[in-house]
Amino acid sequence: MKDALENLEREALSEIEAATSKEELFDIRTRYLGRKGLLTGVLRKLKEVPPDERPILGERSNRAKELIARKIDEALELCEAQSRSERLKSGALDVTLPGRSIRRGSLHPITQTMMEICSIFFDLGFSIEEGPEVELDYYNFEALNIPKDHPARDMQDTFYIDDEKVLRTHTSPVQVRTMEKQRPPVRILSPGKVYRPDSDVSHTPMFHQVEGLLVDRSITFADLKGTLEYFLHNMFGSDRSIRFRPSFFPFTEPSAEVDIRCVICGGEGCRVCGNGGWLEILGCGMVDPAVFQNVGYDPEEFTGFAFGLGVERIAMLKYGISDIRLFFENDRRFLSQF
Ligand code: PHE
Repeated sequence: MKDALENLEREALSEIEAATSKEELFDIRTRYLGRKGLLTGVLRKLKEVPPDERPILGERSNRAKELIARKIDEALELCEAQSRSERLKSGALDVTLPGRSIRRGSLHPITQTMMEICSIFFDLGFSIEEGPEVELDYYNFEALNIPKDHPARDMQDTFYIDDEKVLRTHTSPVQVRTMEKQRPPVRILSPGKVYRPDSDVSHTPMFHQVEGLLVDRSITFADLKGTLEYFLHNMFGSDRSIRFRPSFFPFTEPSAEVDIRCVICGGEGCRVCGNGGWLEILGCGMVDPAVFQNVGYDPEEFTGFAFGLGVERIAMLKYGISDIRLFFENDRRFLSQF
């Protein structure tokens, strides 16, 4: 019986050695160690040997069982490692798959609109001037003919930093700063961020403006009209009607607001234009002589016009966006449409 055991062990080990797949190894395990397996069969015959030989044979057969089981496990591990490295070497790494593309960013729709507005005026010879967002009360208000306690201050709710400083409520102070350091002719745009404590579907506490200023000898309201008409027709299409409506600003006289035919309903009347058929799009006017005096220009010698518009409003009308807050939520699904 000892011989039978040793033969069995030898055969099992050589079969394990020769096995080339996991399936074969599983099969060997069942064949030798399974409940009806060869080794189990030999053990069953233990009953037939004389009692004094049983412990030795029992111990020998347990050793054979453990050895075969261990060799099978080792061979299985080897198989696994081999197939893994083969997979890596060949099939699993498919070099023909397309690469993962890197998402490209794009300019924010407000930046794009601002650049579009500015580039139309570049064609007319305007250049860009910039100024501080934390602005002196003097430049934001007083130099623009809005003294302290003047009721016109209520036109623009204001974030005050202290008695002398504010977050600028418009970019008009840049025009004053420019005129202070430059003699006419002046032909500038001042794009940038402005701040007013206001928040709803059409107002955010921070928004963007582009303002323009042109000063020279004998500039008239006709120049203002022609310039703005050129701009609006380039921005919204040459078939879009526009109209000038009398208005008031402390720093211009006379002043006007400009409307365009509603871009949503074309003038029929809808929710966006409040059924009026027109959309207010910018403010403008001839520079008030008091402003010229504040910067040392002689109002008898020079005249000029100024205008200001909200970039968000233009972008909303151009792209049909009904809530201004969408611009500042940084939702890529929204931003990637532009
Ligand atoms: N500064 C004005 C505003 O922010 C716009 C404006 C500029 C009006 C120039 C007239 C002339 O509302």
